[in-house]
Amino acid sequence: MDVRQLGPGFFAEVRGVGLADVAQNDAAYAAVRAAFEEYSVLLFRDQAVTDELQAAYSRRFGPLEVAKAASLGEGTPYSILTNLDRATGELVPAGHKEDLRARANQLWHTDSCFKSPPALASVLSARITPSIGGETEFASTRRAWERLPSSLRSRLEHACAWHDYAHSRAKVAPHLASEREKSTLPAVSWRLRWRNPANGYSALYLASHTYAIDGMTKDAAAGLLADLIAFATAPGHTYQHRWRDGDVIMWDNRAVLHRGRPWPNDQARHMVRTTVTATDADGLAEMWPVAAAA
Ligand code: OGA
Ligand code: MN
Repeated sequence: MDVRQLGPGFFAEVRGVGLADVAQNDAAYAAVRAAFEEYSVLLFRDQAVTDELQAAYSRRFGPLEVAKAASLGEGTPYSILTNLDRATGELVPAGHKEDLRARANQLWHTDSCFKSPPALASVLSARITPSIGGETEFASTRRAWERLPSSLRSRLEHACAWHDYAHSRAKVAPHLASEREKSTLPAVSWRLRWRNPANGYSALYLASHTYAIDGMTKDAAAGLLADLIAFATAPGHTYQHRWRDGDVIMWDNRAVLHRGRPWPNDQARHMVRTTVTATDADGLAEMWPVAAAA
């Protein structure tokens, strides 16, 4: 296996080992798992992806999430990001729910920080790609943690933040999160720092879904959260991937932020994501909020 770093301090392309090797072979899994812990984002090119292969690969890393209420793929391990109408195969019009969802996806985020338990990793495969745009961009919150002034790090080390799916959707359209989504996804709280027990590295844990920090006013927390995301994603610290058919990318939701990039809405884009749930062994044991002092 050959691993070549492409991004600023993270993001690597893996060659010589593919999804099927990892699904079938313990040594291949161990090597890719080690690269995942180190580089946070892994790219595999020219994969003969099927839903089943993607799920078999993903399951190596832990239990799979079930796609959430009112999403395409609900109740299955496959979250579908598409602008093609399932019934007709036609492009959806601007302002359609899937178009608005794509726009919400263009806010910097980590997947499933609004769920309990949250996600360890996401695996995204490109099934239909537009000829321009539609890239996915990543920023390392591990590198951001290292770049933060140590006084701010010690302030954030034990802080707890609140995450709500409806919060990020409302930034795009007021009622984008439906009542069913809101009632099945109540706000959750996690530590603002996720420490990876495999290597001891810490990372900022926050997203467009994050709206409050314990012990701070709402406005002060919103300002700090916006500053931290801007700091983590500052020019020179991100890596943008231009998709080709057959590409698969896996990222560590504990250690990176990501966002989709726009593309012309007269072009089709169809992506399938599987999501691995975090367990205590992934550092989740340290992420539960401390009870606030009375
Ligand atoms: C995701 C996601 C970005 C994209 O699948 O979680 O944010 O570019 N995708 O499709
Ligand atoms: Mn995402």
